[in-house]
Amino acid sequence: MDLYEYQARDLFEAHGVPVLAGIVATTPEEAKAAAEQIGGTVVVKAQVKVGGRGKAGGVKLAKTPDEAYEHASAILGMDIKGHTVHRVMIAQGADIAEEYYFSILLDRANRNYLAMCSKEGGVEIEQLAVDSPEKLVKFNFDPNTGIDDAAAAEIATQAGFSPDEVPALAEVFQKLWGAFAAEDATLVEVNPLVKTGGGEIIALDGKVTVDENAGFRQPGHAELVDESAEDPLEAKAKENDLNYVKLDGQVGIIGNGAGLVMSTLDVVAYAGEAHGGVKPANFLDIGGGASAEVMANGLDVILGDEQVKSVFVNVFGGITSCDAVANGIVKALEILGDTATKPLVVRLDGNNVEEGRRILEQANHPLVTTADTMDSGADKAAELANK
Ligand SMILES: Nc1ncnc2c1ncn2[C@@H]1O[C@H](COP(=O)(O)OP(=O)(O)OP(=O)(O)O)[C@@H](O)[C@H]1O
Ligand SMILES: [Mg+2]
Repeated sequence: MDLYEYQARDLFEAHGVPVLAGIVATTPEEAKAAAEQIGGTVVVKAQVKVGGRGKAGGVKLAKTPDEAYEHASAILGMDIKGHTVHRVMIAQGADIAEEYYFSILLDRANRNYLAMCSKEGGVEIEQLAVDSPEKLVKFNFDPNTGIDDAAAAEIATQAGFSPDEVPALAEVFQKLWGAFAAEDATLVEVNPLVKTGGGEIIALDGKVTVDENAGFRQPGHAELVDESAEDPLEAKAKENDLNYVKLDGQVGIIGNGAGLVMSTLDVVAYAGEAHGGVKPANFLDIGGGASAEVMANGLDVILGDEQVKSVFVNVFGGITSCDAVANGIVKALEILGDTATKPLVVRLDGNNVEEGRRILEQANHPLVTTADTMDSGADKAAELANK
């Protein structure tokens, strides 16, 4: 889960990372009041989970509360790369002498943790990484020791900071690692990390991603979820403990086992090329033990997607045999009744497949077509979606 900047700011503060005052506002009036409370120059910052806010006009300096009001009026409701701005953060203005870049991330490709640092931070960091990669220091470290004194100093030194600058930076790097580790984060990025005129190091913009798989031991993270920004279908799936990811296509997909479902997405996308370019509408893995209830919940979520025109159920019977799955489908359609309105193509294979097919044939449901192979099923589902 990605956090908003204001949430990252609060989290940094809780872990002793130096930050400036910041207050969230959802109206220009609130923005003005926040600017009055903070006092002096403030910065009005769009809160959206996407980069490049400054360049899009979503970060504006305000010298007075009235200016903060004006900027908030302009920024609230703005569209930044497809994200509507519902909140702004009123941040205390910093006296910036220099802008640096620092991040910590889970480096999946190297099965390790990575810190990155540059003396040339700010809004052009992506370009810097392309044009002068040598200016972006990459430092792999062992998560068991984390970023200790020695590692922190090493990162700052490699990035080209002078010996007298290293200690202050190293302290902040360690605090950021503390936040990363304690919050089960997979990304903590500070851009810019600034040095003020007075020589203080402050995190001025934070991007944090926390690992949802660690939610069980991070009860506080539940509060960070922005329900208004969540996809309603994904939220409904989550409530029912379904492994569902919404995609953009027209063919709903249900399968058992992540590998089979991924292959099904590929096969449907390929088959769709011959049928008007239809695509898979979702990923849904109902796992082993697909009871009628799980099947009904899954179908219910998929049929709730207005873009879906047909559904392809692709199940390989293993521990849960095909007859149980077939009964599940029949019962699920009973449970859903009139709400099930879109054609279903069902391909069953594996354990007890004959009995499974017999059950579906006998039920003879008007919406259900059966297919013998994955390819023919995908083709049929794509054809139905294109009608
Ligand atoms: N509190 C502040 N005081 C003074 N200047 C600021 C403050 N916050 C941001 N700025 C200036 O605005 C620039 C852009 O701000 P910020 O990094 O928060 O947004 P961004 O980089 O455009 O957004 P994103 O990180 O989403 O790409 C900073 O590099 C900094 O120069
Ligand atoms: Mg930034």
